[in-house]
Amino acid sequence: MSKKKIGILTSGGDCAGLNAVIRSVVHSAHHQGWETIGILNGTAGLLKDPPQVRTLHPRDFDGNVMRLGGTILGTTNKGNPFAFPMADGSTKDLSGKIIDGFKILGLDGVIGIGGDGSFAILKELAKQGGINLVGVPKTIDNDIGMTEASVGFDTAVMVATEALDRLQPTAASHDRVMILEVMGRDAGHIALNAGIAGGADVILIPEIPYTIENIARKIKSVKESGRNFALVVVSEAVSTPEGTKAEMEYHGGEKRYGGIGYYIGDKIAEATDCETRVTILGHVQRGSQPTWNDRLLASAFGAKAVELIKEGKFGRMVAWSDRQVIDVSIDDAIKAYQDVNPNSTLVQTARSLGISLGD
Ligand code: F6P
Repeated sequence: MSKKKIGILTSGGDCAGLNAVIRSVVHSAHHQGWETIGILNGTAGLLKDPPQVRTLHPRDFDGNVMRLGGTILGTTNKGNPFAFPMADGSTKDLSGKIIDGFKILGLDGVIGIGGDGSFAILKELAKQGGINLVGVPKTIDNDIGMTEASVGFDTAVMVATEALDRLQPTAASHDRVMILEVMGRDAGHIALNAGIAGGADVILIPEIPYTIENIARKIKSVKESGRNFALVVVSEAVSTPEGTKAEMEYHGGEKRYGGIGYYIGDKIAEATDCETRVTILGHVQRGSQPTWNDRLLASAFGAKAVELIKEGKFGRMVAWSDRQVIDVSIDDAIKAYQDVNPNSTLVQTARSLGISLGD
């Protein structure tokens, strides 16, 4: 077996469990007698001269690194290299520079830890640059197709569930309806999972249209049953009934979902006369120590990714299916975007529990 040199990078929004994937890759590669090069700040590290990298050793993970959220390699969810934003507001195709960066490093394979957006970019770079790419799925949104789980989702759901655990006593003490807005981009997985686990009365997700009347009916019935509080979980990409999304504009004009919770809170107060309070959980869902589940998934994914490089299986993404790690085509995984199926088991479970989905 020849000694290989492999690269690893994290791309897109961070989440808990990324360091556990990196650790697993470094250990598994070391086991094969290979060297692992960490590329810093996603593909942005390859735009620098020389490329920003760091050689990774198993000893780097002796301490608490795998227990930490974030990524020791850094990441970016901006700057598509095919249309890179320049200081003057124009965009430029810098893909050639990134491909050159990969070539300078002389890598036998590259493991990209990302979501569907990152994979679409990495796959194209790999195609144009002849790069041997293997993907590891990570996202708190859990919207990557062809895998039952992505690294980071479990921890995000744990954080959102814990938020409901904390909101419930204060809601009960003040006779209030508490609205918790969670992330997830266009998929309602975090809201649905945390809402069921955290005892929500109403769960609103982008995949299921709602009316304020239906939400108000549920909250009134909770009150009539003698309970003095209610919990509502709303996913950030839920629209107003007229179809408007709530967005926050950041300095520089960048827009992100956020704020629909305030709209829902106001409408509930108006329709029920209940006092409402709104919590927007935001990036807290991306931090925290990874759960044991995310650490396990990260470990299994990292080991399998190294195995795929050993077998020369490129253009593949590791995936969780039926209690084991398999590999699927990155192309297929991108095409099979996975939002919440309104007929899925968990939606049915919510309905059986009497949780209103607003429809
Ligand atoms: O895709 C992960 C995610 O956390 C989404 O749930 C959220 O909408 C978005 O990223 C936030 O992006 P940013 O970190 O750029 O604010």
